[in-house]
Amino acid sequence: MSLRPQRGLDSIKPYVPGKPIGEVERELGIHDVIKLASNENPLGVSPKALDAMRGALETANIYPDGASYDLRMAIAHRFGFSLDEVAVGNGADDLILELSMAYLDDGDEVIASRSSFPIYDIYTHAMRAKLVKTPLAPGYRIDLDAMARAMNARTRIVYVCNPNNPTGTMVTAAELDRFMARVPDSVLVVLDDAYAEMADSSEFPDSLGYVREGRRNVLVLRTFSKVYGLAGIRIGYGFGHRDTIAPLFKVKPAFNVNSVAQAAGIAALDDEEFVRFTVSENRKGRESLYGEFRRLGLEFAESHTNFVLVRIGPEAGVVQQRLLREGVIVRPCAAYDLPECLRVSIGTMPQNERFVAALERVLGR
Ligand SMILES: Cc1ncc(COP(=O)(O)O)c(C=O)c1O
Repeated sequence: MSLRPQRGLDSIKPYVPGKPIGEVERELGIHDVIKLASNENPLGVSPKALDAMRGALETANIYPDGASYDLRMAIAHRFGFSLDEVAVGNGADDLILELSMAYLDDGDEVIASRSSFPIYDIYTHAMRAKLVKTPLAPGYRIDLDAMARAMNARTRIVYVCNPNNPTGTMVTAAELDRFMARVPDSVLVVLDDAYAEMADSSEFPDSLGYVREGRRNVLVLRTFSKVYGLAGIRIGYGFGHRDTIAPLFKVKPAFNVNSVAQAAGIAALDDEEFVRFTVSENRKGRESLYGEFRRLGLEFAESHTNFVLVRIGPEAGVVQQRLLREGVIVRPCAAYDLPECLRVSIGTMPQNERFVAALERVLGR
């Protein structure tokens, strides 16, 4: 018998990240490429985190604290939780893997939107669980009613990405409350709040409120990758009831958050100025892109994140390729079941202007 990977892998479509700038420059022989494809922070790294990381490099010969005690304490303190209600990971991505390992058995069912973060699919399949995908509601919004209807006795996890990647849209507090009332105790609801800091609505849910009220079947995920500008350093964090979080500690890699990252996270939490600046620049960039899309007659989804989903039409894939040749990397959305759309991360104003100018040329406007 020949060597064979476990059968869960047969269903996995590998995650395709935004193309790195270097790769596009090498492949196309061009320079000065900009990347608006991975929802990174275009303003750079939190200055406080940068300082702390420089200091932490001095002790890189020592293993990190495997329990990330100081970082988890800082997060717990900041959000009003206790240490055992907080988990950290090598990005929120790592926490999604850990919770999949901790909560899924062969044949269990997981519910996610057809147009949401593809990492949910990969780790679900890796655990030989079955993924049940629900369509979007009108307005590119997650359909919580469809998710509630899809639940059955085999359902173990429901992912609600809010605001949602790649649509940028949100579900409201009232909608989420109605949904949560329908979820049985045996189903874990993962509220992926990766972009929550950028949500721009008084109706945006307080997902941490479900943990505060003592619900055991909720995990809230957040990340330092976006508003703190630490995507390359890899720190995600999560909140849940202590009994819900505890199984994650059993499966986590021993030193999943390195010492430089731990120092960065602690310092970044204090960098309120950088977060405020990021959020306000992002809002300005978002508004300016809306204006340009309106001018070009392109439909877009109102975003609560640092990216905008824009509908190009059947030519979206071709347009994305032509934008690459113009030196602008954006994300095609066929893999998110939105083949007519592109997802554009909000950049600095000059980057946004370059994108719009390239788009106009490509569309022949
Ligand atoms: C919705 C969502 N969740 C989680 C993540 C993962 O974030 P991290 O960089 O912390 O792994 C991302 C990253 O793009 C995301 O878009």
